[in-house]
Amino acid sequence: QVPELVERFEAVIAAEQRIEPRDWMPDAYRATLVRQIAQHAHSEIIGMQPEGNWLTRAPSLRRKAILLAKAQDEAGHGLYLYAAAETLGVDRSELTEKLISGRQKYSSIFNYPTLNFADVGVIGWLVDGAAICNQVPLCRCSYGPYARAMVRVCKEESFHQRQGYELLMTLMHGTEAQRAMVQDAVDRWWWPSLMMFGPPDGDSPNTAQSMAWRIKRHTNDELRQRFVDMTVPQAEHLGVTLPDPELRWNEERGSWDFGEPDWSELMRVIKGDGPCNTQRIEVRRAAHEDGAWVREAAAAYARKEKERHG
Ligand code: 3HC
Repeated sequence: QVPELVERFEAVIAAEQRIEPRDWMPDAYRATLVRQIAQHAHSEIIGMQPEGNWLTRAPSLRRKAILLAKAQDEAGHGLYLYAAAETLGVDRSELTEKLISGRQKYSSIFNYPTLNFADVGVIGWLVDGAAICNQVPLCRCSYGPYARAMVRVCKEESFHQRQGYELLMTLMHGTEAQRAMVQDAVDRWWWPSLMMFGPPDGDSPNTAQSMAWRIKRHTNDELRQRFVDMTVPQAEHLGVTLPDPELRWNEERGSWDFGEPDWSELMRVIKGDGPCNTQRIEVRRAAHEDGAWVREAAAAYARKEKERHG
């Protein structure tokens, strides 16, 4: 490695400036960005399935229109992120193959089932809320295309969280049965939402290097704590109980103390042994194979247009 190039790379990172696609970068910096951005993109696309499950069964036209808009946004987020990954020299078809063959992952959270429409509200409130905590700092990531993709994603994510919370507030002002549906969904999604932030810092092999390269701006535990501190007052306002008996306000820390997630569950789900892993990949594989004719037709049309216009 040419010393001047390494020096320039390190100076740009230290000055909180951006590394752009044509800049020299260490192979390991490129590799960890491809790893994280691809996983992020896969998560957006797989994440359309749990909620998509309720599109045809939304309780009103308004709820259906909102959910349709959200699912469409997630597809767009996947597109921005695959495009950002491609600036690093990989191709989205290669990344899709790796996802389908299990060589690349997506967020554990999307391997849990959506049992009723209260789950749609809890996903918006907790899962998109956690996503906002994780994605806002990524707007200051050192890699230009990733940081810029995050700016647009974060704007749309706040709509996702607000519509979920409003849906739950409506149910909480409904019948006793509807309130029980919300509480049951919160009980099922709370701990998996905390696991979205990754393993504890002591068990996170990538965090130190990602922080040094200013890809990650906060550690997994810092963002998890920020999410808990943000969410507890919202749960109180909603009138639900978070399923953590150790949750208590810590005056001197100015934060909420909370219990330990079940890390063995996170490891199991990451390894493919969650409630819906097989189903999620099968649906993704079927969509890819059934959609091959669309890709071929678009490519044929593009070739014809090129011949016609030279
Ligand atoms: N699900 C799946 N894999 C996970 C995980 C999770 N919740 N948490 C950690 N992992 C994996 C990591 O990918 C890593 O494995 P790898 O080295 O093979 O990639 C391993 O477990 C160790 O974890 P680390 O903390 O060392 O890994 P990272 O430094 O990459 O941190 C992360 C994990 C915080 C998820 C980070 O990758 C990240 O911030 N990614 C970008 C954001 C993202 O992907 N969010 C997921 C939700 S998608 C979403 O929010 C969509 C919205 O619309 C709901």
